Amino acid sequence: MHPVSSVHLHPFSVVSNGRVGEDIFRLVIEARDLAGVIRPGQFMNFEVPGDPSHIVRIPLSFASADAAGGTIEVIYAVVGEGTRRLSRMGEGDSSTVVGPCGNGWRVTSGGRALLVAGGVGAPPVISFARALVERGRAVDVVLGAQSKNRLWGERDALEAGADEVVLATDDGSCGMRGFATDAMRDLMGRHQYDLIGTCGPGAMMEGVARIAHEARVECQASLERMMTCGFGACSTCNVAMRAGGYKTCCSDGPVFDAEEVLW
Ligand SMILES: Cc1cc2nc3c(=O)[nH]c(=O)nc-3n(C[C@H](O)[C@H](O)[C@H](O)COP(=O)(O)OP(=O)(O)OC[C@H]3O[C@@H](n4cnc5c(N)ncnc54)[C@H](O)[C@@H]3O)c2cc1C
Ligand code: FES
Repeated sequence: MHPVSSVHLHPFSVVSNGRVGEDIFRLVIEARDLAGVIRPGQFMNFEVPGDPSHIVRIPLSFASADAAGGTIEVIYAVVGEGTRRLSRMGEGDSSTVVGPCGNGWRVTSGGRALLVAGGVGAPPVISFARALVERGRAVDVVLGAQSKNRLWGERDALEAGADEVVLATDDGSCGMRGFATDAMRDLMGRHQYDLIGTCGPGAMMEGVARIAHEARVECQASLERMMTCGFGACSTCNVAMRAGGYKTCCSDGPVFDAEEVLW
């Protein structure tokens, strides 16, 4: 993947922050220097003000960055105290963000790519889709979630230039009923792919990696781990490697060659 970028502390202010689904929010920040350098698949580590005892930053990916406008769009789920406080930040509120963190997707030209996202794994997948389309690839996207209210990204994937966007929900409330991997198998029966990318729950990504392995197609997976420092100093975010040993999710990743990972 890409070499590690130089990570800095950046001030940011909130442009907008509103609900787009059940406990899912869309945050747009102004962070001028960062918007110009962050690459698809990299992430940021947010300090959320309001509780001095909560010192751990919150790692979040981005869906799009506007270098000219200086803004970055983030989609996040409220799952605990930090993201709940983030959801209460309003227009004009400010804090700091560390970034760009991690390696990012390896964006290659070639034939057709299939990207598979689960839940709030969709934002980095959308930014990957946009970058691959800019390289002249055809891209299909699968967006999976438990239900309609937790599904985000259909319009964004189409705007990013995806050819086909397939929706899958566990309860059938939107798109096909079933897992993202079911939709993936269906698409692989209809198209020839030379690249697969995935981000979402661990079990889903393990399934995606297995299907890619069976089909002998390159697969990049963006992993999530609990993080403390976010820049390779504490080993909180270790990822076990198939060849033995560990790599850090925050600085060696979050994007790994799926074949490298001990799932
Ligand atoms: C590289 C990276 C990119 C991410 N991008 C996004 C994104 O774009 N949108 C989004 O909604 N979320 C994303 N996450 C997950 C997000 O960082 C966590 O949901 C958030 O830190 C939870 O903080 P909290 O204080 O609200 O919850 P806590 O109270 O800390 O935890 C609530 C629950 O979430 C789990 N959790 C906490 N941190 C993580 C984590 N890092 N990974 C997985 N589970 C966690 C805990 O085990 C617990 O079950 C990303 C995580 C990583 C590592
Ligand atoms: S979070 Fe500290 S090494 Fe990754």
